[in-house]
Amino acid sequence: MQRIFPKHLTRYLRRFLQVFRIFTVPVVFGLGLFGSECVGAQTPYSLATYQMSGDSILEPLGAKQGQATRGAQIVKTREGQCTLCHAIPEFKGQVGNLAPLLEGVGSRLSAAQIRLRVVNATALNPQSIMPSYYRVDGLKSVDPQWLGLPLMNEQQIEDVVAYLVTLK
Ligand code: HEC
Repeated sequence: MQRIFPKHLTRYLRRFLQVFRIFTVPVVFGLGLFGSECVGAQTPYSLATYQMSGDSILEPLGAKQGQATRGAQIVKTREGQCTLCHAIPEFKGQVGNLAPLLEGVGSRLSAAQIRLRVVNATALNPQSIMPSYYRVDGLKSVDPQWLGLPLMNEQQIEDVVAYLVTLK
């Protein structure tokens, strides 16, 4: 019995090492990739510079051309999370009522005014509960992996603006 146990043990260990070796490469490689992704997220995202003019941002961010259909998708899905607070025409899912209906926003506001509200709602109302979708400074409780990253990139902001101006 005394001799069998160590034998078992060495066989077990050898098997373990074999299996482990098969997994070490992908696991270590995977961790490396994952790690570098986190580091990547922490390197500051270079935000396009923009000029506020009154309650507006006149120029499209990064000179991007917005696509309304893509914007509709962002606004109506978890991508934008807008429906947590806003009701949206033709959207049948559950919506929040913490914010103005977005119906008719394209008649009330210009593209330039909508752009500022999506980019940085707190520029107009410091108490706003609406997330600033294109801001990385002055935010609280940001998970380290998202530090320095805006909630949406320039293209997404322009797509959302392009959709909202169609809501007449
Ligand atoms: C956490 C709640 C919340 C979320 C999420 C949110 N908003 Fe808002 N939004 C508000 C509130 C509240 C206002 C009213 C103005 C204020 O308090 O800043 C507002 C105002 C606006 C306005 C101006 C409307 C008007 O008639 O003056 C626009 C445009 C807008 N939001 C678009 C969006 C879009 C697009 C998204 C998603 C990408 C979004 N919001 C996500 C809360 C939210």
